[in-house]
Amino acid sequence: TEFISANDLASLMNVSVNEVIKVCLGLGMFVSINQRLDAEAITIITDEFGYDVEFLSAEEEESIIEEDDEADLVDRAPIVTIMGHVDHGKTSLLDYIRNSRVASGEAGGITQHIGAYDVMTETGKRITFLDTPGHEAFTAMRARGAKVTDVVIIVVAADDDVMPQTKEALNHAQAAGSPIVIAINKIDKPAANPDRIREQLAAMNVLVEEWGGKYQCQEISAKSGQGIPDLLEKVLLEAEILELKANPNRNAVGTVIEASLDKGRGYVTTVLVQTGTLKVGDIVLAGSHYGRVKAMTDHRGKKMKAAIPSTPVQVLGLDGAPQAGDKLQVMETEREARELASNRTQLQREQSMRTKKHITLDEIGRRL
Ligand code: GTP
Ligand code: MG
Repeated sequence: TEFISANDLASLMNVSVNEVIKVCLGLGMFVSINQRLDAEAITIITDEFGYDVEFLSAEEEESIIEEDDEADLVDRAPIVTIMGHVDHGKTSLLDYIRNSRVASGEAGGITQHIGAYDVMTETGKRITFLDTPGHEAFTAMRARGAKVTDVVIIVVAADDDVMPQTKEALNHAQAAGSPIVIAINKIDKPAANPDRIREQLAAMNVLVEEWGGKYQCQEISAKSGQGIPDLLEKVLLEAEILELKANPNRNAVGTVIEASLDKGRGYVTTVLVQTGTLKVGDIVLAGSHYGRVKAMTDHRGKKMKAAIPSTPVQVLGLDGAPQAGDKLQVMETEREARELASNRTQLQREQSMRTKKHITLDEIGRRL
């Protein structure tokens, strides 16, 4: 299996892709920018840059969730990621779904960060949405072993073409093994030609249902709302097949979606709770940070006392900003959380020192 592209690997290590390519050449490997790398190549390259990689299988990743007794599991809402090319209408779609106006309030209309929202459909079913800024965050999260998405909606504008980022999104979703629903957007536009999109998808082996393929597809307008209830029904259908369940009666485990420092509130961490119930007062460990949950709010800023599985929440009380894709887990004691957090900090520091050392040597070499 191939995991990530040379380019993504470079950005994870905070070096330029040219450096990665150069190092590969030095090792006798010819690698191009967008070439996806297998485990062996990743191990060799990251080692050159002073990193240790750990490959977690999806099973290992989920084992922490699977240790629950069948009898304790109850249905949970599907977690859905909306992906697609720039400006094809991801935020507008999400906006329409949750009846607010995020896209118009964003600087330049470009999504600056991942938002996580849970919504109720007309038929009374809950769906949790992740709006991604592009694919870097998704790739970074996946590279770090986080699999948070159950179903992927791929948005393609009917007045445009299947674009490179559309293909990338399809590749990511397929690599992650997530069911895909295609949303052909902007069909209100005079220049819309949804059949052209179907054709272009077919040319890359993504055959839609109405043409005898396996991919569910829905024409929509994020502007007028046309087709959106049908799209959500199709998403729910995919989710139903997955029989998504979690145990709400245990210590919470979740994944960090984003984190930042807020002047007034301190570190604000958006977490998607995946199993268990996260409560105010819980001691949590997330990446190399820890803390006691001081307060929680939903995506509208409303205070919450507890968050059940598949709920995105903003958590206050961590001592720093963990990275997107870090696992968050509830710990029994503050001491345990602190020790683990400081171990991880130490590890990170060592890794970054090794990287620096390498780069310095390399630079000396260049000057000679
Ligand atoms: P990024 O976050 O930058 O990747 O873009 P996005 O995919 O989130 O696109 P966004 O929702 O910001 O929409 C881009 C532009 O297309 C905006 O000007 C929207 O108003 C417009 N738009 C989105 N959906 C529709 C639609 O269904 N019909 C029409 N006519 N315009 C749309
Ligand atoms: Mg957007």
